[in-house]
Amino acid sequence: MSDHLTLVSVVGARPQFVKLAPICRAMALADNIEHLVVHTGQHYDDNMSASFFEQLGMHEPHLNLGVGSGSHAEQTATMLTALESFLRDRRPDALLTYGDTNSTLAATLAATKIHIPVAHVEAGLRSFNRAMPEEINRLVADHCGDRLYAPTPQAMVNLERENLLGRAVLSGDVMFDSVRHNIELARSRSRALEDLDFAAGAFGMVTVHRPVNTTDATLRVLLGVLETTARRHLPLLFPVHPRTRAVLDKLGYKPPPELVILEPLSYLDNICLLEAAAFVITDSGGVQKEAAFLHTPCLTVRDETEWTETVDIGVNHLVGSSGKQLVEAVGAVLAAQNPFDDRALRRIEECYGDGHAAEKIVKDCKTWLLKIADEIPAE
Ligand code: UD1
Repeated sequence: MSDHLTLVSVVGARPQFVKLAPICRAMALADNIEHLVVHTGQHYDDNMSASFFEQLGMHEPHLNLGVGSGSHAEQTATMLTALESFLRDRRPDALLTYGDTNSTLAATLAATKIHIPVAHVEAGLRSFNRAMPEEINRLVADHCGDRLYAPTPQAMVNLERENLLGRAVLSGDVMFDSVRHNIELARSRSRALEDLDFAAGAFGMVTVHRPVNTTDATLRVLLGVLETTARRHLPLLFPVHPRTRAVLDKLGYKPPPELVILEPLSYLDNICLLEAAAFVITDSGGVQKEAAFLHTPCLTVRDETEWTETVDIGVNHLVGSSGKQLVEAVGAVLAAQNPFDDRALRRIEECYGDGHAAEKIVKDCKTWLLKIADEIPAE
């Protein structure tokens, strides 16, 4: 292997674009690296995809596989076939995968089978709930991955439990890098608060998209709880994911005025509103962390979380799927003192790094690949 490396990042869904952006910046600054980005097309609406590349300062992907929607098997199988052909053609020195989506799963399998080394960014996350498709994707990505970039010390512990510590590196969290890098820009550029006519602290935010919370029955129950929360406490801004939108349309849902349904937000508007919100209610993994980074209390509409540090630090509260304890929990959060004291802020930095995870990952990737160059079997 020469010391010139070709690395391919595969992404496909909204949270992966946010994780990719700091890696693209670090790759561009590194010597002798050609970095290609393949978009699987898992997310395809402009406001779920193109707007993220644009706002986060990334080039358009080198290739878009355009797989679109489908069942898990259909989506993954279409990606696998297309990725294998691309990887055979280009033979990159390594492939980088991100997080826990079907795009992560397909990229990992396609590359591993043809002996292309795989590095997994955001490795070691576990909900210990195998009913979540993401948990299966994480297990495959970590067990087949050759280099595992763990965002937190807890992720390292999880990898150690599965005998994967030998491949693991504690890198810090690339989503922390993204918030750190973009929050000033978001504050100066976003007009979301003015456009929506809300003052900072005068509203809560909501995001819901997990399959378990978006069946007709579970979403209906959750909407009832959100309406009560909005009436009793503060109005709620609810940018809806396409899956959730489809169910709202099917139910013919008409929200009351204090539950404001919005289209998916751009990254800058999203972090701006998250920072200004009095609290956020979510079932997203990324939003739980972003809330912690932006000092906004979080209520997670799930029974468990991968980001246990946020709960331990006292800035995130699990309120159960279907939001059984939501109304009371929001009341308690609003009545409590600000949980983001000095100790909490210190702990957040200890857990998620210093905002330079991407540089560490790119530097380590280079050293690692040059070291293993002679060990990679031919296909
Ligand atoms: C995926 C990830 C999840 C991540 C989430 C972030 C998997 C298994 N899950 O779930 O880890 O938290 O992304 O959003 O990969 N749709 C559109 N327009 C789009 C994108 C999706 O209409 O731009 C619709 C699709 O038709 C589909 C639904 O939304 O029916 C869900 O999309 P899907 O690709 O299944 O992924 P997510 O649920 O978003």
